[in-house]
Amino acid sequence: MTGETLIEASHISVSRGSVTVLKDVSFALHKGEIVTIVGPNGSGKSTMVRALIGALPASAGKIIRLPGLRIGYVPQRLHIERTLPMSVRRFFDLPKRIDASALSDVINKVHVEHLLERQMIDLSGGQFQRVLLARALLGNPQVLVLDEATQGLDQRGSAEFYQQVEAVRNELGCAVLMVSHELHVVMSASDRVICLNGHICCEGAPDVVSSQPEYRALFGTDTRGALALYRHEHDHSHSHDHDHDHDHDLGHGHGDSARSPSQDSNSDAAG
Ligand SMILES: Nc1ncnc2c1ncn2[C@@H]1O[C@H](COP(=O)(O)OP(=O)(O)OP(=O)(O)O)[C@@H](O)[C@H]1O
Ligand SMILES: [Mg+2]
Repeated sequence: MTGETLIEASHISVSRGSVTVLKDVSFALHKGEIVTIVGPNGSGKSTMVRALIGALPASAGKIIRLPGLRIGYVPQRLHIERTLPMSVRRFFDLPKRIDASALSDVINKVHVEHLLERQMIDLSGGQFQRVLLARALLGNPQVLVLDEATQGLDQRGSAEFYQQVEAVRNELGCAVLMVSHELHVVMSASDRVICLNGHICCEGAPDVVSSQPEYRALFGTDTRGALALYRHEHDHSHSHDHDHDHDHDLGHGHGDSARSPSQDSNSDAAG
């Protein structure tokens, strides 16, 4: 996890309209690591990743990206016009035609070959997300950014998707920045989990509790270890003056029955 720094944000603030959505956020993403950002709706997760990739300006602070950094970005929302026929193959060729060998490389990696002639609007949720992942990989990214990539997928679908992402990371060596609003279930392969609520509340390694019977009861046994409970403590107070709801109960106590004291390893990074 001590790879080259790909993106580094120092004390950034980001405003949307008149509201400061992110305040004093510092973050670095290194080669090959998987980082998951969790936080309740409206906590600034999408804003943060968009600022990191340069799609939104920071109103304060500084963001440094490795020169020429290749980023594959799957946005949270992608609207496909239902009345417009578009096959998966055509979708891959937008906005510009993709080289055939690059395409065959990626479709083999992400197993979407059988979907190429299907219509985008006919894909199941899991197939759709897989196609978006494949498209993001077409540019051979050094950083893969997935904003709520498992939205609409059931537990098994999420687990499979996470396994796919981990395999891609292992093969390409790219860094992965994931966003999830599921506060208690994250990809177990995450090297770090960042809890965001307008600022970084805390960060740490996800607790892997898959050996516990309570975990298995909650999450089943067929996720092949792709999901883990993440537990963190908010033992700091919020004295800053910006405008967020801080309902930190949202971040507490998940998976209580499945954790053991020895797994309480997350540290508080801000306060
Ligand atoms: N274009 C915009 N103009 C004004 N405010 C915005 C705009 N986009 C986002 N916001 C506000 O910024 C805040 C953070 O939004 P953001 O989309 O980053 O949250 P999020 O953590 O990704 O939420 P979710 O889990 O719902 O995706 C919200 O209060 C949102 O209403
Ligand atoms: Mg979002």
